[in-house]
Amino acid sequence: MAHQWRGVIREYAQRLPVGPATRIISLGEGGTPLVFAPALSELTGSKVYLKVEGMNPTGSFKDRGMTMAITAAVESGAEAVVCASTGNTSASAAAYATQAGIKCAVLVPDGKISMGKLSQAIAHGAELLQVNGNFDNCLDVARKLSENYPVFLVNSVNPARIEGQKTAAFEVVDFLGDAPDYHLLPVGNAGNITAYWKGYREYAESYISATAGELPAVSTKTPIMWGFQAAGSAPIVAGHPITEPDTIASAIRIGNPASWQQAETARDESGGLIDSVTDEEILAAHRWLSSKEGVFVEPASAAGVAGLLKHHAAGNVPTEKTMVITVTGHGLKDPQWALRTADGSDIEPTKVEFDVVSVANALGLTGL
Ligand code: F0G
Repeated sequence: MAHQWRGVIREYAQRLPVGPATRIISLGEGGTPLVFAPALSELTGSKVYLKVEGMNPTGSFKDRGMTMAITAAVESGAEAVVCASTGNTSASAAAYATQAGIKCAVLVPDGKISMGKLSQAIAHGAELLQVNGNFDNCLDVARKLSENYPVFLVNSVNPARIEGQKTAAFEVVDFLGDAPDYHLLPVGNAGNITAYWKGYREYAESYISATAGELPAVSTKTPIMWGFQAAGSAPIVAGHPITEPDTIASAIRIGNPASWQQAETARDESGGLIDSVTDEEILAAHRWLSSKEGVFVEPASAAGVAGLLKHHAAGNVPTEKTMVITVTGHGLKDPQWALRTADGSDIEPTKVEFDVVSVANALGLTGL
């Protein structure tokens, strides 16, 4: 008999800050596929898996954190939430706030988020403000708003978000039977790398649960964490904030990540790295995923794969290891990038008349 996945809070209740009386706000997030990537595995000689987070209810990993953040907002009696976003957080916040029956305000950089994400926030009835500034400016205002007005902040500076997002690391270990040797992912505001590292550490150590006492370690090790920023928006790599971040990967166009310090901790404690990938490398990885692995992602989501390809070309990727790469959001969020060739020209679908000979000719088929 088929079993429905119950959402990350119910599946991992013992390891999350919830109790029996908590009213859980969930859209069934998590339980996303860990897909074996044959082409990347063949290229590298390691076993490469993709954690396909585009399969979450609103199409990105943000839902894992948002189920916790909106649950916490409701628990605290909040009637309205606010977030700054490059698009995915706002789509997620709007959907979960709708289920909770509370108001949602989102601040997005004007003209800098994809149509798919904009439509999600609007469809769910969020109060959407396009701010004349970048993501970092939006986050600054959202924080001040939550400090001075009756609105609850659901950005990843809220610890509830990190708690929810750490469940992705639990799923990886639960599916593989142990932690992978390496974990690669994109880095923007740096909440996700913080959350994965927390999850991996908690699974490798015995864990003191609020509801269940001491839980034994689940994995024997933690992975080496490799994070990738977009070259035009790579403050952690540069070692200083970027005041005018720029990249086609709009989801990670961030110049001053809120969880900067925690990302460096994940890098250093795991013996990993945080590096940058160019827009060309991101688009090549985006194309690799759709054309060789069968997985369609939005550009920012391909940054981890771009990092793997870059380090493979430089001879830095070991063979015979297990590697997991998080692909963070669905390709349908920002589909325009699929309709361009590598050299930037538009791809026009072929038009035909509705007869079999025209179709066969267009496909280059000869008769039997
Ligand atoms: N990938 C996608 C598709 C994202 O939307 C984001 C962040 C990231 C990667 C980076 O994750 O911030 O935890 O390091 N998007 C945020 C938003 C900023 O507002 O949707 P991070």
